[in-house]
Amino acid sequence: MRYLSSLVILAMLLSLGACQRVDPNSPQGKRQADMKQLLRLSETLSGMTRGRQPFVAADFANTARLLQQAASKPWAHFPEYTSAQPADANAAKAFTKAAADFQQATDHLNAAAASGKLEDVRAPMLRVEDSCSTCHRVFRPQ
Ligand code: HEC
Repeated sequence: MRYLSSLVILAMLLSLGACQRVDPNSPQGKRQADMKQLLRLSETLSGMTRGRQPFVAADFANTARLLQQAASKPWAHFPEYTSAQPADANAAKAFTKAAADFQQATDHLNAAAASGKLEDVRAPMLRVEDSCSTCHRVFRPQ
């Protein structure tokens, strides 16, 4: 057990080290911070829709609104896809579409949350999660 937990700590230190090599003021540092925020908010929402935590309608609606706001933040920090003259126009188009699909999914979730009913937000939340993975499958380096 002690051996296992020191492995876990080592893994955490290593991943921390990997993050710290990125300059927080660089586009990569900024987009990673924005993505972490998306993760934090969507974890709360998916926890409530999947029963990992109690569904509290007001908290859900508030977090869905924060996710909708945060959903427009990262894209300016992907100059390779969102600048006026991208190197690969097709990749830029696909990326912009994936970002727009994601934002639209967060709009729908935010609207659905207004009813305050768990059954109304389950499907819109799945769509949000799908749109994260759809983009990651193509554009997130492993
Ligand atoms: C339009 C594309 C796109 C969408 C949509 C998207 N991501 Fe990302 N995400 C990326 C890319 C590209 C990276 C890699 C960024 C880098 O390291 O430079 C990334 C990285 C991340 C990371 C790692 C950040 C780090 O510290 O290295 C997390 C966590 C993450 N995304 C979560 C999410 C979540 C959660 C959602 C949906 C709620 C989401 N992303 C939606 C493209 C996207």
